[in-house]
Amino acid sequence: MAAEAYIQLDDVSKVYRAKAGQVEACGEINLDIRESEFVAIVGPSGCGKTTILKMVAGLQPRSSGSITVGGRSVDRPQTDLGIVFQDAILLDWRSVLDNVMLQVDIRNLDRATYEPIARHLLELTGLKGFEHHKPFELSGGMRQRVSICRALVHDPPLLLMDEPFGALDALTREQISMDIQRVWMEKRKTALFITHSIPEAVLLADRVVVMSPRPGRIVEIIDIDLPRPRKLDSMPEKFSEYTGRIRSIFKASGVLAMD
Ligand SMILES: Nc1ncnc2c1ncn2[C@@H]1O[C@H](COP(=O)(O)OP(=O)(O)O)[C@@H](O)[C@H]1O
Ligand SMILES: [Mg+2]
Repeated sequence: MAAEAYIQLDDVSKVYRAKAGQVEACGEINLDIRESEFVAIVGPSGCGKTTILKMVAGLQPRSSGSITVGGRSVDRPQTDLGIVFQDAILLDWRSVLDNVMLQVDIRNLDRATYEPIARHLLELTGLKGFEHHKPFELSGGMRQRVSICRALVHDPPLLLMDEPFGALDALTREQISMDIQRVWMEKRKTALFITHSIPEAVLLADRVVVMSPRPGRIVEIIDIDLPRPRKLDSMPEKFSEYTGRIRSIFKASGVLAMD
């Protein structure tokens, strides 16, 4: 029996109207995401990945179709979620802990209740001992970990990540993938993860949504049947079958370079 969808996109499209003319970013987007599911979207630059994430978050209006989250239509910016963007946006004058606690302060939540959660998330992502450091004392990877903790501290049911490793080196990307996996396995939040890296998508997701170049369409949705925890250096043969299959879909639609 299929569980009821937590996020539902029905025939969603987005056309940006700019002075220079119209840009059809994406269209015919049909996607159901179950509660606690980890879904990755991969596609070439400009195919509307960020647009889809923003429409789910209510930060961009859709041009047609319907989007519901938790059974409710998304018609305004959603507050019951956490978002991680490509660049960690931290406040320089706040400590690591207080950057995570920013969510709690903005939402007027009880500091005493949430501080242990913030500390636990920092520990899960390898930042124990850095609670009182300032952002300028951290590496890019550490800063991005802080923004992941901040997105989760208020315990939202949904986590949206838009190329959260985009600005990081390969080794750091791999380490943070492992952090995200660890946090997700513990918290089981519904997660929508956008990337242009095929191995990262396969490593983390229950399902990978493969998109065509702009105007972005869903070409295929692939179930990733691999046990967790997953590790890049000890993946079964199936891992490269999945990545190979996604690569060949891109090749067929004329997308050659993805990484
Ligand atoms: N605010 C905007 N106004 C006009 N065009 C936009 C806007 N945002 C994105 N676009 C265009 O829509 C297309 C899809 O963008 P985006 O969703 O950012 O793609 P991706 O995240 O897959 O790289 C691109 O051609 C981009 O230039
Ligand atoms: Mg983008």
